[in-house]
Amino acid sequence: MEQAKGFPKDFLWGGAAAAMQIEGAYNVDGRGLSISDVFTFDPALDKKHWLDQWHMMTHAQVKEALDPNSTKNYPKRRGNDFYHRYEEDINLLAEMGFKCFRTSISWTRIFPNGDETEPNEKGLQFYDKVFDALLAKGIEPVISLTHYDMPLYLVTEYGGWKNRKLIEFFVRFAETVFTRYKNKVKYWITFNEMNCVKHHPFVSAGIIEENHPNLEQDKYQSAHHQFIASALAVKACHEIIPNSRIGCMISYLLLYPNTCNPDDVLECQKEERVSFFFSDVQARGYYPSYTARMFKEKGVVLHKEPGDDEILRDNLVDFVSLSYYMSNNASATADQHAKASGNLIGGVKNPYLEQSEWGWQIDPKGLRYALNNLYDRYQKPLFISENGVGATDQMSPDGTINDDYRIDYLKKHIEQMREAIEDGVDLFGYTAWGPIDMISASTSQASKRYGFVYVDQDDLGNGTLNRYKKKSFDWYKKVIESGGEVL
Ligand code: BG6
Repeated sequence: MEQAKGFPKDFLWGGAAAAMQIEGAYNVDGRGLSISDVFTFDPALDKKHWLDQWHMMTHAQVKEALDPNSTKNYPKRRGNDFYHRYEEDINLLAEMGFKCFRTSISWTRIFPNGDETEPNEKGLQFYDKVFDALLAKGIEPVISLTHYDMPLYLVTEYGGWKNRKLIEFFVRFAETVFTRYKNKVKYWITFNEMNCVKHHPFVSAGIIEENHPNLEQDKYQSAHHQFIASALAVKACHEIIPNSRIGCMISYLLLYPNTCNPDDVLECQKEERVSFFFSDVQARGYYPSYTARMFKEKGVVLHKEPGDDEILRDNLVDFVSLSYYMSNNASATADQHAKASGNLIGGVKNPYLEQSEWGWQIDPKGLRYALNNLYDRYQKPLFISENGVGATDQMSPDGTINDDYRIDYLKKHIEQMREAIEDGVDLFGYTAWGPIDMISASTSQASKRYGFVYVDQDDLGNGTLNRYKKKSFDWYKKVIESGGEVL
């Protein structure tokens, strides 16, 4: 009998965050405004409106955010103050035994407007300190070049990623940080969840959707520019850091056909390809065969330049990373009322699954399915760059925070990762989302918490920002200590 495989000895256990959700200090040491600084949170609004700006940013909101006298509440400008507390936070991660920590570099700390030719030294120094602190604790940094925080100036002055000029700016940024951190950072991810340009074009590509005449065209033209930028970043990374590994990332929005009606099955495949399209191009190096019809149906005519196909072909990613939170059902016929309410992209509700407080359907077995699916498709190493559950944690009068629901969620997902490895999937790392409470990406709340560590801050920024260990802190520590054996 063959021995059960279990997790590899050198498996990268850890957690993941993003500059825009943790750092705060949005106007300190020369940082420029990024698109994440535009998002407001207004508790007076009905809950169903909290996601609206994530899906569709308006010109008026951007204008207001640029006004220094705006009195709106901008939570991502505060983050959880990692900028000033990174040492304390890294010590907590080290105490849990983290092997790696995924975060991103804020583009606007390095190039405040995005189109400068010289970087901001103070911004570079900040990440020197963060990476040194991680390495001193034996924690491998896994760094995303951009995580939903492109320079706002590139939106207002250049129109976002639909403008081909952005390739040049992004590649300059990438080369600058590869050169600076070549002895500190080995693992890189180019774009966070690139497939999300389809669902939230402002966040992913700096496209203001309001009154947009030709949205689909601009989304896919932007995606093409990001593909080229990503491939050129892969090239530069391999040249500047010879032992590096650089990957792409998709948000794995797992879909099941709502019924075995072939119409639903075909609808499901069609919808799935809308996401796979992004990893297909970056992992295989060419536009997949289904693209021509997809573009025709959407009225998209892509503008490529000579040499683009070769750039894509010659610079494949080393690994594919995915975020995984939930699954949905796809239906050719169901009306919108049946939607799983809070799920980021909607879809039909699955009667076999429970939902989180925010309405995200919880589906651990779906993770095993997703990993197998991706590995079958690419035969490239996989890295789970996000997974977790957002919840309203309560601190008891004795100071404890019993987040058993989080332990349950993560345990069930890790069990399924082990199954996938047993199935033959080459999975080399797992970073649980948001190890220290931060600002939610989609709703901009501080009270949507993912962490093993509680941060005393409310949605309006009141609180001491002190850190407190939750019950899941010791649990995850044991998971890592035992190499995923004790769950
Ligand atoms: C992912 C994003 O899609 O989901 C993260 O990459 C985000 O930035 C995470 O935080 C969880 O979403 P939310 O909206 O609950 O913070």
